[in-house]
Amino acid sequence: PPSTLIDAHGRAIRYLRISVTDRCDLRCRYCMSEQMTFLPRSQVLSLEEIAVIAERFVARGVNKIRLSGGEPLVRRDVGELVRRLGAMVGRPGGLDELTMTTNGTRLAEHAPTLIAAGMRRVNVSLDSLDADRFRFITRHGDVAQVIGGIRAARDAGLRVKINMVALKGLNEDEIGGMLSWCADEDLDLSLIETMPLGAVDEDRVDRFLPLTRVFEDLSTRFPLVRDTHRSGGPARYWRVEGTNTRLGLISPLTANFCDGCNRVRLTTEGKLYMCLGHDDQVDLKAALRDGGLAAVDAAIDVGLREKPARHDFRIEAGAAPAVARHMSVTGG
Ligand code: GTP
Ligand code: 5AD
Ligand code: SF4
Repeated sequence: PPSTLIDAHGRAIRYLRISVTDRCDLRCRYCMSEQMTFLPRSQVLSLEEIAVIAERFVARGVNKIRLSGGEPLVRRDVGELVRRLGAMVGRPGGLDELTMTTNGTRLAEHAPTLIAAGMRRVNVSLDSLDADRFRFITRHGDVAQVIGGIRAARDAGLRVKINMVALKGLNEDEIGGMLSWCADEDLDLSLIETMPLGAVDEDRVDRFLPLTRVFEDLSTRFPLVRDTHRSGGPARYWRVEGTNTRLGLISPLTANFCDGCNRVRLTTEGKLYMCLGHDDQVDLKAALRDGGLAAVDAAIDVGLREKPARHDFRIEAGAAPAVARHMSVTGG
């Protein structure tokens, strides 16, 4: 159906990202601080409220929904939400895709539910294959558990894409190895430049690794051919020749992709953020509770008029993050 979600820059919104919880069982260094305060449950949207808002977005032209967090699989009723939203997949005027970004710790147990609900692929964060390093980066994670989750999901029939945040001095020497591993395991890989959101316990400058440099190195070691595939997300893709594996590059700092932005983000608290790199938001929870769907529509329209043209992430020594909220508020 024609989209009725057009922003002031003429961009049609087709992709809704929903953070279903701000909680997480890990504490990745680039994402969270060691000590985090999470929302009290009373402020969190109910499953019914998330579903009603999501269905409204679909009625207005959204055809792709991604569930994220925090860690989406730590929310107790997430299976029920996936089933409810999954009912829209493949229906005329419904969703082309319902998908998820997860840290993989609970994926083995949930994969069958996701597939039964109509999910076809998931993105799993995995920044290192080395047990000690993985523990260091995530502060709590067990890499064997995550790899087990990835394999279980793949074997159950989900296409899995690994999300690897490129981190100078932490996993930079492992990027080629990760791509080989993904080719061997029949997985896709997206590399991501670290973005300055929220206060974390270290300086981002020390960790920033431009993907331009990484890509130059990879292209001397792997037969990479440009792939015109678009996932609806910000990545540009290459294929590793002779394999099923796609390499995606997400380069917010070295190759801005905001001109093609097609997405908005619903938080656990019911705020709709118009851009990952700005604070512009409208309160859909208040709109829904006070005025029902008509008020939700009106609030969305206000938000779209204000959607910023682009983010302005910069990684500078000692600089405050572009926005104060953590990644886990909007789910990336
Ligand atoms: P695909 O559907 O597989 O393309 O996934 P995706 O890239 O849309 O989603 P995912 O949750 O895997 O996000 C990967 C990375 O892209 C995360 O670090 C996100 O924060 C980042 N990302 C997604 N959308 C945007 C965006 O609009 N702006 C910026 N700066 N980063 C984004
Ligand atoms: N910069 C870039 N990517 C990040 N992610 C979390 N925090 C950041 C950050 N500061 C990634 C996670 C996950 C995805 C949703 O976003 O690794 O894969
Ligand atoms: Fe949790 Fe994901 Fe943030 Fe890591 S990146 S702390 S797994 S929300």
